[in-house]
Amino acid sequence: MSDDKGNKKGGERTLKTRVKTAKGRRLSSTLWLQRQLNDPYVQRARKEGYRGRAAYKLIEIDDRFQILRPGGRIVDLGCAPGGWCQVAVARVNADGSRAGKPKGFVLGIDLQEVEPIAGAELMQLDFLSDGADDAVRGRLDGPADAVLSDMAAAASGHKRTDHLKIMALAEAAAEFAFEVLAPGGAFVAKVLQGGTENQLLAVLKQRFDKVQHFKPPSSRKDSSEMFVVATGFRPGRGVGDDERSGDNGDGHSPPDGEGWSPV
Ligand SMILES: C[S@@+](CC[C@H](N)C(=O)[O-])C[C@H]1O[C@@H](n2cnc3c(N)ncnc32)[C@H](O)[C@@H]1O
Repeated sequence: MSDDKGNKKGGERTLKTRVKTAKGRRLSSTLWLQRQLNDPYVQRARKEGYRGRAAYKLIEIDDRFQILRPGGRIVDLGCAPGGWCQVAVARVNADGSRAGKPKGFVLGIDLQEVEPIAGAELMQLDFLSDGADDAVRGRLDGPADAVLSDMAAAASGHKRTDHLKIMALAEAAAEFAFEVLAPGGAFVAKVLQGGTENQLLAVLKQRFDKVQHFKPPSSRKDSSEMFVVATGFRPGRGVGDDERSGDNGDGHSPPDGEGWSPV
């Protein structure tokens, strides 16, 4: 027998017992809400019309690496609710709003439905499903200048599982990037601290002039998220081709400022 709070008679508590706070919210939700309300990036996103604070991560990545140029063709994997797409559209001029600048193209992909974004094309699909890469390539209809992936599965709370899931997404994104990137193109993918798996890293180093890890200032300090940023795509080069240029000889450049870490 239990009382109305799920407590068993005789003092034994069941798993149903929940900590409730104001308006019936659970404590975790209240803490999340508190963090959101006090987060300067959340407030800034609201003021500046971005769909989420994630937009600032791409802004900071691009301010550092100059990946998004007017006229650029961009694939944004894991784009919901759309902050990165908004940034990409503005920077590559995909909506044609910057007269006199070349018009770019932005294609956003997500499992979830995304509200339309002026200047972006959107596809709702599971990027890990069979044939997803062909479907995206078909819609892209030409080479891309950058493949971006902020894809992340919902956190399970189990560190190793979450790490494996995010790496599977990053690897699928990288394989796709190898198929569609134009020479000199860029690849950005969310990974978890501890860095990119060696195997993926080795392949990226073979195909790009520079490969580095970057944690944007807007990425929460208590999150183990970071990004692998690879620039200067070299098409047709596979693992084993060892010619390098402009780096320190092991395929990636030395850290050159705050937020960088050697891979
Ligand atoms: C951190 S959010 C992306 C935020 C986005 N960059 C923005 O600025 O709004 C991660 C997204 O990855 C998407 N995702 C996770 N697994 C995916 C998959 N297999 N295929 C497509 N999208 C996926 C999730 O649905 C989620 O919307």
